[in-house]
Amino acid sequence: MSSTTSRHILAAPAWPYANGPRHIGHVSGFGIPSDMFARYHRMIGDRVLMVSGTDEHGTPIQVQADAEGVTERELADRYNRVIAEDLAGLGMSYDLFTRTTTLNHYAVTQEIFTGLYNNGYIFAKSTLGAISPSTGRTLPDRYVEGTCPICGYDSARGDQCDNCQNQLDPIDLINPRSRINGETPVFVETEQYFLDLPAFADVLGTWLQSKSGKWRPNVLKFSLNLLGDLQPRAITRDLDWGVPVPLDGWRDRADKRIYVWFDAVIGYLSASIEWARRSGDPDAWRAWWQSPDAQAYYFMGKDNIVFHSEIWPAMLLGYDGKGAKGGTPGSLGVLNLPSEVVSSEFLTMEGRKFSSSRAVVIYVRDFLSRYDVDALRYYTAIAGPESQDTDFTWSEFIRRNNDELVANWGNLVNRAISFAARNVGSIPEASGLTDADHVILERSRDAFGVVGEALSRSRFKAAITETMRTIGEANKYLSDQAPWKLRESDPDRMKTICHVALQLVDDGKTLLTPFLPKSSQRVFEMLGGQGRWADLPRIDEVTEDGGRPYPVVTGDYSGQATWASVPVRAGTPLGQPTPLFAKLDPGVVIDELNRLGGYDTEGGA
Ligand code: MF3
Ligand code: ZN
Repeated sequence: MSSTTSRHILAAPAWPYANGPRHIGHVSGFGIPSDMFARYHRMIGDRVLMVSGTDEHGTPIQVQADAEGVTERELADRYNRVIAEDLAGLGMSYDLFTRTTTLNHYAVTQEIFTGLYNNGYIFAKSTLGAISPSTGRTLPDRYVEGTCPICGYDSARGDQCDNCQNQLDPIDLINPRSRINGETPVFVETEQYFLDLPAFADVLGTWLQSKSGKWRPNVLKFSLNLLGDLQPRAITRDLDWGVPVPLDGWRDRADKRIYVWFDAVIGYLSASIEWARRSGDPDAWRAWWQSPDAQAYYFMGKDNIVFHSEIWPAMLLGYDGKGAKGGTPGSLGVLNLPSEVVSSEFLTMEGRKFSSSRAVVIYVRDFLSRYDVDALRYYTAIAGPESQDTDFTWSEFIRRNNDELVANWGNLVNRAISFAARNVGSIPEASGLTDADHVILERSRDAFGVVGEALSRSRFKAAITETMRTIGEANKYLSDQAPWKLRESDPDRMKTICHVALQLVDDGKTLLTPFLPKSSQRVFEMLGGQGRWADLPRIDEVTEDGGRPYPVVTGDYSGQATWASVPVRAGTPLGQPTPLFAKLDPGVVIDELNRLGGYDTEGGA
């Protein structure tokens, strides 16, 4: 199925905190799904812009900087680069993966804040902030710790509980204490700015209702529930690391910054603007943010839903002047709301929550140093946490790699291409197709509609399951037709079967391209294709006027990959077939479990 007109599609994967390397739990939620979606849309001819970056402000960065004994900026520089490498290694086809500490991001964040302020959607209010009784000084959020009022976890941080993921304020904590010296903080009046969320209740409600039947049901239900209790939200904090508040009397204060979540969601916009500038057409971002036909899809783990389905839309509506207080659009003009908030559930690891501190973790780069990137992408598509919390186990990973990727797809590619290469050397002519040939070819062509429909709705598991079923049928066709028995008796029929089988391989590699771009490029070449089919990203070192150099993930994704069954051309010389994927020794399960911290002592509980 191909679209008649090319639409502008913004693919917006969540911004990882620059506080450590990425593990497979992170990337199976926001990362790999967004890339499969973006690649599919490029293949049907849509104009895709995929932007993101590292989230470098706030308490999560400060706490880790303290732990590593470096400044926030040093920490952010370190992990911005590590994460860019992790994501490039996964084949994430970002047009731009940047960061939130650029001058551009600061300017765009302050512009959105100012626009909301001018329209009356931001107001100052006195709240209770922590101070240290022994020094009398403000105790920044990161230094306040206590018991979570929601789940009872006893080391929740002042900004967030790492156990239940809820966002908190220091004043919410039960038995709050200073992480510096254990003393109980005193709470005194301090001013913060608030976003007037109740002013968006009506317009958010109408907007969310219009998504009924389109969004994943649990995301919509969760988002609609939030509307029942909309309170103003503090969007500044007692912090010294973040974007300064762009108001007189606040701009130069060292102890007040914009709240990290307020600036992070603006990253989608600022990164689009940065991308446009780097591409040489500074207004190019507008096609994705302002044209009425443009669509925007945001990908994240479920702990991020509230920020993407409530707060970010409210910020956009307020900036556009569309809340209960009206107003006029800011200098950037009217900005589009999300078309869909696509959220995944959580991935656990051998029955346990990921935890870097307890080494219950599989880092992306360790994974990629031992296994093929497409094996991980395959596993994520078929067994990722798409619609329910899901456990990653090494034995299941090995099983799916060996029994499905290798035994089904790898086997079809290898059998069909080796046999044809050995016996013909090129793609043979087909003469007189039988009913069986017609049926399987049609089945393969039809898969493009079914799989494409699933991909366009972010149903990755359904999409890859249907693809693998089609490939399974192609394998069965080849076994049933057994061209190897016809070498002497009926060489023409043998060639026809080879032709059909190679067409099925060609279709298979196209259907699998959004999921497995790297190996699909290899199949393209084995089938005699020339040049680029599916492109992979690269890392560039860039600079900003007046700023510091940094790495970005970017790429040229204009390869030939197109979402259609294209007839193979008889006479095309076949490339040298080599095994597409490695079969894994089941013994690696033991090795991997031994690598997993504390597995033996905790008995895998
Ligand atoms: N850094 C956040 C997290 O890891 C995600 C930020 S997504 C953004 O949970 F849109 F706000 F940037
Ligand atoms: Zn909690």
